[in-house]
Amino acid sequence: MERLPHTNSVNKAIGANSVACKTLGTDAASHDDSAHKKQDSMPKKQPYVSHQPDSHGHIHYSDDENGMWQALLERQAEQIPNRACPAYLDGLKKLNLPATRIPQLHDIDEVLQATTGWQTAAVPALISFGKFFKLLANKSFPVATFIRRFDDMDYIEEPDIFHEIVGHCPLLTHPAFATFNETYGKLGLNATKEERWFLARLYWFTIEFGLVGQNKGSRRIYGGGILSSPSETVYALNAGSEQQAEPQHQPQNQPEHRAFDLLDVLRTPYRIDHIQPIYYVIDDLDTLFDIVNSDIMGMVKQAMSLGLFEPSYAVKNA
Ligand SMILES: [Fe+2]
Repeated sequence: MERLPHTNSVNKAIGANSVACKTLGTDAASHDDSAHKKQDSMPKKQPYVSHQPDSHGHIHYSDDENGMWQALLERQAEQIPNRACPAYLDGLKKLNLPATRIPQLHDIDEVLQATTGWQTAAVPALISFGKFFKLLANKSFPVATFIRRFDDMDYIEEPDIFHEIVGHCPLLTHPAFATFNETYGKLGLNATKEERWFLARLYWFTIEFGLVGQNKGSRRIYGGGILSSPSETVYALNAGSEQQAEPQHQPQNQPEHRAFDLLDVLRTPYRIDHIQPIYYVIDDLDTLFDIVNSDIMGMVKQAMSLGLFEPSYAVKNA
């Protein structure tokens, strides 16, 4: 799988790119749409490896790993009040995540099963796109059971357990969010390779980087890629104030909020290695029901024939 350059100057949390980087293989949408490639000069880092559960299904984490969880959770707890949507905060309360240790997946599953019938599935750091879709179609949310190292605290390419659990699991207790994921999995299973690339944009601009709320003043975040990133949690809603731009990585001072339009979303390029220049906004979470009840694959075909919009960011040379 093509890896993107590690960009420490981008203060972005792990795993914003769960569609793009959870998967591997030729059918993975493991790309940014500008198709820039790994720099050969980049030093190779130690790959992440998921933990295996013991015979009782328990995963043992070290003190350092539990300490990383605690640090990440404390940091993010400062950012999400009044920024995350109420359904996310309700889900977070239901999950009742431990503050000082990485939770066990069976504890998460108890809550998900009781609310929407979902569960988690422990997976390796990278899985095939086919497996990703199959799990979602069967109401199983893939969770790689490793946590980032200290030197990756602000940015990492692979989605870790913090991103999956804190970013996504709270909203998996919400029927519309859960149904959207299930439908997405079923569509993806039957999609062609090219159709999957377009579908990846739908996931990106909703489940990973979606905003909710027509009224700008009460607009909130539901995308897990944002909600597991302290800096992006602030930036995504901070459209009215000046940002400290980081040349080449921060595309503009303020993000652009666009009303959700399925065809537009499918045609919008994205990159995974910097904070997003564009967010799409749905009216409320139940809009996700409307989306799954629409002709998504018909729109995919239309988007394929129309092609992508021009990127809103500087395109790096391939
Ligand atoms: Fe994700």
